[in-house]
Amino acid sequence: MINPIQIKLNDLNANNISHRMRIINGGDNYKLIGLSHKISEAENINWLDGYEKDSSKKLFVITYGEKPCGLIGLTKINQSAGSANLFIVNDGRYKNKGIGSRAMDLVITYAKNKYGITSIFLTVKDKNTVAIDFYKKLGFKEIKNNPLENELEFVLNI
Ligand SMILES: CC(C)(COP(=O)(O)OP(=O)(O)OC[C@H]1O[C@@H](n2cnc3c(N)ncnc32)[C@H](O)[C@@H]1OP(=O)(O)O)[C@@H](O)C(=O)NCCC(=O)NCCS
Repeated sequence: MINPIQIKLNDLNANNISHRMRIINGGDNYKLIGLSHKISEAENINWLDGYEKDSSKKLFVITYGEKPCGLIGLTKINQSAGSANLFIVNDGRYKNKGIGSRAMDLVITYAKNKYGITSIFLTVKDKNTVAIDFYKKLGFKEIKNNPLENELEFVLNI
Protein backbone atom coordinates (compact mmCIF):
# COMPACT_ATOMS: atom_id res chain seq x y z
CA MET A 1 0.00 0.00 0.00
CA ILE A 2 1.31 3.44 -0.83
CA ASN A 3 1.33 6.22 1.74
CA PRO A 4 -0.27 9.31 0.15
CA ILE A 5 1.71 11.62 2.46
CA GLN A 6 4.87 10.60 0.61
CA ILE A 7 3.58 11.79 -2.77
CA LYS A 8 4.98 15.23 -3.57
CA LEU A 9 5.02 17.69 -6.44
CA ASN A 10 8.46 19.12 -7.23
CA ASP A 11 8.97 22.15 -9.50
CA LEU A 12 10.31 21.05 -12.88
CA ASN A 13 13.73 22.61 -13.50
CA ALA A 14 17.22 21.93 -14.88
CA ASN A 15 17.99 19.52 -12.02
CA ASN A 16 15.14 17.12 -12.72
CA ILE A 17 14.34 17.75 -16.42
CA SER A 18 15.89 14.39 -17.41
CA HIS A 19 12.91 12.67 -15.75
CA ARG A 20 10.56 14.44 -18.19
CA MET A 21 12.23 12.68 -21.12
CA ARG A 22 12.48 9.32 -19.35
CA ILE A 23 8.83 9.31 -18.27
CA ILE A 24 7.43 10.54 -21.60
CA ASN A 25 9.55 8.08 -23.60
CA GLY A 26 8.79 5.07 -21.37
CA GLY A 27 6.57 2.36 -22.88
CA ASP A 28 3.68 3.80 -24.90
CA ASN A 29 3.46 6.99 -22.86
CA TYR A 30 4.55 9.27 -25.72
CA LYS A 31 1.75 7.88 -27.93
CA LEU A 32 -0.83 8.08 -25.15
CA ILE A 33 -0.11 11.79 -24.69
CA GLY A 34 -0.40 12.40 -28.43
CA LEU A 35 3.26 12.59 -29.54
CA SER A 36 4.30 10.91 -32.78
CA HIS A 37 7.83 10.10 -31.62
CA LYS A 38 9.99 9.77 -28.54
CA ILE A 39 11.72 12.98 -27.52
CA SER A 40 15.48 13.43 -27.80
CA GLU A 41 17.75 14.96 -25.18
CA ALA A 42 18.17 18.09 -27.34
CA GLU A 43 14.38 18.46 -27.68
CA ASN A 44 14.00 18.05 -23.95
CA ILE A 45 16.54 20.79 -23.17
CA ASN A 46 15.09 23.13 -25.81
CA TRP A 47 11.67 22.55 -24.33
CA LEU A 48 12.99 23.56 -20.87
CA ASP A 49 14.35 26.83 -22.33
CA GLY A 50 10.90 27.69 -23.65
CA TYR A 51 9.16 26.51 -20.50
CA GLU A 52 11.26 28.76 -18.27
CA LYS A 53 10.14 31.83 -20.26
CA ASP A 54 6.49 30.82 -20.36
CA SER A 55 4.37 31.91 -17.40
CA SER A 56 1.31 30.10 -18.78
CA LYS A 57 2.77 26.71 -17.81
CA LYS A 58 3.57 25.15 -14.44
CA LEU A 59 4.91 21.60 -14.36
CA PHE A 60 6.00 19.25 -11.61
CA VAL A 61 7.84 15.98 -11.27
CA ILE A 62 5.77 13.68 -9.05
CA THR A 63 7.87 11.87 -6.46
CA TYR A 64 6.99 9.02 -4.15
CA GLY A 65 9.47 9.06 -1.28
CA GLU A 66 12.51 10.27 -3.19
CA LYS A 67 11.60 8.37 -6.36
CA PRO A 68 10.52 10.34 -9.43
CA CYS A 69 7.43 8.58 -10.74
CA GLY A 70 5.49 10.97 -12.95
CA LEU A 71 5.01 14.31 -14.55
CA ILE A 72 1.97 16.54 -14.00
CA GLY A 73 1.19 20.12 -14.75
CA LEU A 74 -0.89 23.00 -15.87
CA THR A 75 -0.75 24.66 -19.28
CA LYS A 76 -2.73 27.56 -20.79
CA ILE A 77 -3.01 29.11 -17.32
CA ASN A 78 -5.39 32.05 -17.71
CA GLN A 79 -5.92 33.77 -14.39
CA SER A 80 -8.42 36.31 -15.67
CA ALA A 81 -10.62 33.54 -17.09
CA GLY A 82 -9.93 31.29 -14.07
CA SER A 83 -9.00 28.43 -16.39
CA ALA A 84 -6.10 26.12 -17.13
CA ASN A 85 -5.41 22.86 -18.93
CA LEU A 86 -4.00 19.87 -17.11
CA PHE A 87 -2.00 16.83 -18.13
CA ILE A 88 -0.43 13.89 -16.31
CA VAL A 89 1.83 11.03 -17.31
CA ASN A 90 3.23 8.42 -14.95
CA ASP A 91 6.17 6.06 -15.16
CA GLY A 92 4.75 2.59 -15.95
CA ARG A 93 6.29 1.10 -12.80
CA TYR A 94 4.21 3.45 -10.67
CA LYS A 95 0.81 3.14 -12.34
CA ASN A 96 -2.26 1.68 -10.58
CA LYS A 97 -1.01 2.48 -7.10
CA GLY A 98 -3.10 5.58 -6.41
CA ILE A 99 -0.18 7.94 -7.14
CA GLY A 100 -1.87 9.58 -10.15
CA SER A 101 -5.09 10.29 -8.23
CA ARG A 102 -3.20 11.84 -5.31
CA ALA A 103 -1.03 13.94 -7.66
CA MET A 104 -4.22 15.17 -9.38
CA ASP A 105 -5.64 16.27 -6.00
CA LEU A 106 -2.41 18.13 -5.24
CA VAL A 107 -2.21 19.92 -8.59
CA ILE A 108 -5.91 20.85 -8.54
CA THR A 109 -5.50 22.37 -5.05
CA TYR A 110 -2.38 24.20 -6.27
CA ALA A 111 -4.22 25.57 -9.31
CA LYS A 112 -7.01 26.87 -7.11
CA ASN A 113 -4.81 28.40 -4.40
CA LYS A 114 -2.02 29.80 -6.55
CA TYR A 115 -3.91 31.01 -9.63
CA GLY A 116 -7.55 31.14 -8.58
CA ILE A 117 -8.42 28.51 -11.22
CA THR A 118 -12.06 27.42 -11.19
CA SER A 119 -12.21 25.38 -14.43
CA ILE A 120 -9.65 22.75 -15.39
CA PHE A 121 -9.76 21.48 -18.97
CA LEU A 122 -7.96 18.58 -20.58
CA THR A 123 -7.90 16.69 -23.84
CA VAL A 124 -7.39 12.98 -24.13
CA LYS A 125 -7.12 10.58 -27.07
CA ASP A 126 -10.49 8.83 -27.50
CA LYS A 127 -8.87 5.36 -27.40
CA ASN A 128 -7.06 6.08 -24.12
CA THR A 129 -9.68 4.35 -21.99
CA VAL A 130 -7.41 4.07 -18.94
CA ALA A 131 -6.98 7.85 -18.77
CA ILE A 132 -10.65 8.51 -19.67
CA ASP A 133 -11.84 6.27 -16.80
CA PHE A 134 -9.27 7.86 -14.49
CA TYR A 135 -10.47 11.41 -15.27
CA LYS A 136 -14.15 10.42 -14.98
CA LYS A 137 -13.52 8.84 -11.61
CA LEU A 138 -12.02 12.16 -10.45
CA GLY A 139 -15.18 14.00 -11.52
CA PHE A 140 -14.16 15.37 -14.95
CA LYS A 141 -17.10 15.67 -17.37
CA GLU A 142 -16.86 15.21 -21.13
CA ILE A 143 -17.74 18.43 -22.95
CA LYS A 144 -16.52 17.89 -26.50
CA ASN A 145 -15.80 15.10 -28.96
CA ASN A 146 -13.35 16.02 -31.70
CA PRO A 147 -13.30 12.99 -34.05
CA LEU A 148 -10.95 14.67 -36.55
CA GLU A 149 -8.25 14.71 -33.88
CA ASN A 150 -9.52 11.49 -32.19
CA GLU A 151 -9.75 13.52 -29.01
CA LEU A 152 -12.22 14.14 -26.21
CA GLU A 153 -12.27 17.28 -24.08
CA PHE A 154 -13.11 17.19 -20.38
CA VAL A 155 -13.66 19.84 -17.72
CA LEU A 156 -13.67 19.87 -13.94
CA ASN A 157 -15.19 22.84 -12.16
CA ILE A 158 -13.54 23.32 -8.80
C1 LIG B 1 -3.72 7.98 -16.50
C2 LIG B 1 -2.60 7.79 -15.48
C3 LIG B 1 -1.89 9.09 -15.24
C4 LIG B 1 -3.20 7.27 -14.17
O1 LIG B 1 -2.16 7.23 -13.19
P1 LIG B 1 -2.10 6.15 -12.05
O2 LIG B 1 -1.02 6.54 -11.11
O3 LIG B 1 -2.07 4.79 -12.64
O4 LIG B 1 -3.53 6.41 -11.36
P2 LIG B 1 -4.11 5.76 -10.05
O5 LIG B 1 -3.26 4.62 -9.62
O6 LIG B 1 -4.38 6.83 -9.08
O7 LIG B 1 -5.51 5.23 -10.55
C5 LIG B 1 -5.53 4.23 -11.54
C6 LIG B 1 -6.16 2.98 -11.00
O8 LIG B 1 -5.53 2.53 -9.81
C7 LIG B 1 -6.54 2.30 -8.81
N1 LIG B 1 -6.02 2.65 -7.50
C8 LIG B 1 -6.19 3.81 -6.86
N2 LIG B 1 -5.62 3.76 -5.65
C9 LIG B 1 -5.06 2.55 -5.53
C10 LIG B 1 -4.31 1.89 -4.53
N3 LIG B 1 -4.02 2.49 -3.35
N4 LIG B 1 -3.85 0.66 -4.78
C11 LIG B 1 -4.14 0.04 -5.95
N5 LIG B 1 -4.85 0.62 -6.93
C12 LIG B 1 -5.30 1.85 -6.72
C13 LIG B 1 -7.62 3.23 -9.16
O9 LIG B 1 -8.83 2.77 -8.60
C14 LIG B 1 -7.59 3.15 -10.62
O10 LIG B 1 -8.21 1.94 -10.97
P3 LIG B 1 -9.48 1.87 -11.84
O11 LIG B 1 -8.96 1.79 -13.23
O12 LIG B 1 -10.16 0.65 -11.42
O13 LIG B 1 -10.26 3.14 -11.59
C15 LIG B 1 -1.58 6.71 -15.97
O14 LIG B 1 -2.28 5.56 -16.37
C16 LIG B 1 -0.72 7.18 -17.11
O15 LIG B 1 0.34 7.78 -16.91
N6 LIG B 1 -1.12 6.87 -18.36
C17 LIG B 1 -0.29 7.20 -19.54
C18 LIG B 1 -0.30 8.67 -19.85
C19 LIG B 1 -1.67 9.17 -20.13
O16 LIG B 1 -2.46 8.50 -20.77
N7 LIG B 1 -1.92 10.38 -19.62
C20 LIG B 1 -3.15 11.05 -19.91
C21 LIG B 1 -2.99 11.79 -21.21
S1 LIG B 1 -4.34 12.88 -21.49
